[in-house]
Amino acid sequence: VGYHGLAVKTVTIAVEPVYEARIENGILRAAGTQLAGLRAQGSPSVFVITTAVVRRRWGRVLKDSLKQAQLRFEILEMEDGERYKTMATVEKLATRLVERGADRRALLVAFGGGVVGDVTGFLASIYMRGVDFVQVPTTFLAQVDAAIGGKTGVDLGVGKNLLGSFHQPRLVLIDPAVLATLPEREYRAGLYEALKCGVIRNPQIFDFMEKEREAILRRDPAALEWLIAECVAVKAAVVAADERESGLRRILNFGHTIGHALEVETSYKKFLHGEAVAWGMVAASMISAGLEKTDPETARRIRSAVLAYAPLPRVTVRSKNVARRLRADKKTVDGAIHFVLPVEIGRVEIVSDVPERAMLQAIDELRTLSQA
Ligand SMILES: NC(=O)c1ccc[n+]([C@@H]2O[C@H](COP(=O)([O-])OP(=O)(O)OC[C@H]3O[C@@H](n4cnc5c(N)ncnc54)[C@H](O)[C@@H]3O)[C@@H](O)[C@H]2O)c1
Ligand SMILES: [Zn+2]
Repeated sequence: VGYHGLAVKTVTIAVEPVYEARIENGILRAAGTQLAGLRAQGSPSVFVITTAVVRRRWGRVLKDSLKQAQLRFEILEMEDGERYKTMATVEKLATRLVERGADRRALLVAFGGGVVGDVTGFLASIYMRGVDFVQVPTTFLAQVDAAIGGKTGVDLGVGKNLLGSFHQPRLVLIDPAVLATLPEREYRAGLYEALKCGVIRNPQIFDFMEKEREAILRRDPAALEWLIAECVAVKAAVVAADERESGLRRILNFGHTIGHALEVETSYKKFLHGEAVAWGMVAASMISAGLEKTDPETARRIRSAVLAYAPLPRVTVRSKNVARRLRADKKTVDGAIHFVLPVEIGRVEIVSDVPERAMLQAIDELRTLSQA
């Protein structure tokens, strides 16, 4: 697979109102002009929401670019981490926006990982009954997934993402170069979501990740630009076909059924989200082969591709406990456990009648693979 010069680079997300994701190494330096271009008339204030970590690494580049474009801007920091993806953070930020004179024409910029993106998007959807916002995602996971599609929200003590809204950004600016400073484990965990995009919808992504593993792990800029753009295109197509997640959008949950059960069963302490999804994809592939929805070779290919991006934390939880989580989830979701099962690389099927025995077997196999 050749990727030099083949990048999509601009992906249109065809929802109402339509917006673009622009993917390019170094685009952060042009953020100012990109934002100014959004707002031809008037000179609204820009409010950048970020964390100390991201600001320390990349704040200067963004700041210089906003200055150059002669935009009025303020930078607001929030605490780092999922623990702060809360209503309390939203309230604090909203108060500071008021103090700094943000009115209904304010433009919020989410500059950080998925947590910053979800909080900022949610805040933008309710601040003065809704203001515009732009996503400038800085983690791999946020670049290929969280920043696209307009799902926003915060957590409650009793569960994740329980308060939220759909609020599409006006623009998404993706600079793969900022991934250079991402901790290795965070980076790898994000890659599994890219592999997911390949399995559900685009065999080229999958082939690319099989063949270009070294370039990807080395964070080769051209490889990343291509990979991220292709993943964004997958997410954009799925979201455009099903903005409010009633049907097709569920295919994005490949690997997430068992993945989520593993996360909950280990109290979100053992696996990063992408790592749990990685195990979930392996399990779903084995279930699919077991039910003869796919052939053993496809299941094997998916498993090998996942494990090629290891290390992954081991699965040591008891399969019975994971199955119990799945059943508990089922009550809170919609009465059935949905599995997204691969049929071939690039095509999946949603199945809701997977026998419990098949689930238990798959989880036991994860335990076995963990010991290898
Ligand atoms: N809205 C959606 O559709 C959607 C989709 C998937 C995930 N999510 C949400 O995204 C969140 C997870 O996002 P995440 O994985 O980006 O985690 P995160 O936002 O917590 O970021 C991970 C860590 O990386 C640091 N970081 C960010 N950019 C960096 C950089 N360039 N260099 C160095 N460090 C950097 C952050 O400070 C943080 O400590 C979850 O809350 C999840 O629910 C939302
Ligand atoms: Zn995910």
